[in-house]
Amino acid sequence: MDYKAKMLRDDALKGKTYVVTGGGSGLGKSMTKYLLELGAQVVITSRNLEKLEKAAKELEEQTGGKVLPLQCDVRDYDAVCEMRDKSIEHFGKIDGLLNNAAGNFISPTERLSSNAFDTIIDIVLKGTKNCTLAFGKYWIDHKETQKTVLSIVTTYAWTGSAYVVPSATAKAGVMAMTRSLAVEWAKYGIRFNAIAPGPFPTKGAWDRLLPGELKEKFDLSKKVPLNRVGDHQELANLSAYLLSDFAEYLNGEVITIDGGEWLKGAGQFNLLEQIPEEMWDMLEMMIKSKKNK
Ligand code: HXC
Ligand code: NAP
Repeated sequence: MDYKAKMLRDDALKGKTYVVTGGGSGLGKSMTKYLLELGAQVVITSRNLEKLEKAAKELEEQTGGKVLPLQCDVRDYDAVCEMRDKSIEHFGKIDGLLNNAAGNFISPTERLSSNAFDTIIDIVLKGTKNCTLAFGKYWIDHKETQKTVLSIVTTYAWTGSAYVVPSATAKAGVMAMTRSLAVEWAKYGIRFNAIAPGPFPTKGAWDRLLPGELKEKFDLSKKVPLNRVGDHQELANLSAYLLSDFAEYLNGEVITIDGGEWLKGAGQFNLLEQIPEEMWDMLEMMIKSKKNK
């Protein structure tokens, strides 16, 4: 068995229904595929209906599961409520929401228009708020329990990051919302968690974060102590677990899955990794020779 293997047993999500925002591409599509393989039914939603319908057909053929593609811009609260109502009308109930939709691009912040900054905040923070509020209020009003919300953030939600400032700002907000509601809405039987992934190659992210030659210039796997990028199945395994009832006691957690990437950047002496093995004898001697001097 290796890290690309599927983790949960086949029927782990039988009878469950989830909504995955941004479920028609990238990581959202990979996570949706695994939810279906585990027996769940899934609503995938984003702005591009044609893309969603194509993905839904492909996923149904691959897994034998049921997928409902629904167009919805998460920035529009009324559209989100309509998407929620159609989802419930179609599947009868929704057990979990996976806030995965996002927008991002690299830019020096002084080059951004106010609208450019707002666009990212609106998709990531306001979009996550819109979906969370729409589903949360419904579950609370209808006294439905054993529900869960999982949001995809990033490791720079903690650290911040230059050149992706709107995204870092918005993801930090999503993390705060996750932890806050984990406490406030636990009494209604709703759990909140988040995942902070390191680099997991997708076309959507790589085209906007490593455009053109940057893909060759900046090999993100070199920043990771484990020396590789993430495999989509590794994220799918973690998200399926967090959305499942096996994670009933997990609430308010933000789990990093990045091969140690952000800690490598953080540790003050981590750069000593560059020192060759044979130099350590000499360095040790130099340090010891300073004893009592
Ligand atoms: C400066 C830019 C820009 C750029 C757009 N804008 N791209 N400014 N540099 N590269 C400005 C525009 O000029 C405009 O401002 C404003 O942003 C809105 O642009 P639109 O194109 O009208 O927006 P919209 O059609 O809503 O598209 C949103 C988008 C786009 C975010 C700009 O890229 C998109 O649809 N992204 C969705 C998918 C995505 O981003 N996936 C990556 C997620 S990766 P003005 O003032 O001119 O009107 C991720 C990974 C994190 O989050 C961690 C990885 C390790
Ligand atoms: P992606 O394929 O570009 O995914 C983004 C998705 O969001 C798309 O399906 C897009 O669909 C949807 N979307 C964007 N704006 C929307 C809106 N206004 N309303 C509804 N849907 C919208 O990129 P990805 O790499 O898979 O990213 C998925 C998630 O992982 C994001 O939250 C991202 O921040 C996070 N993440 C990714 C990485 C990585 O290395 N890939 C690392 C850390 C975190 P439409 O264009 O059809 O709307």
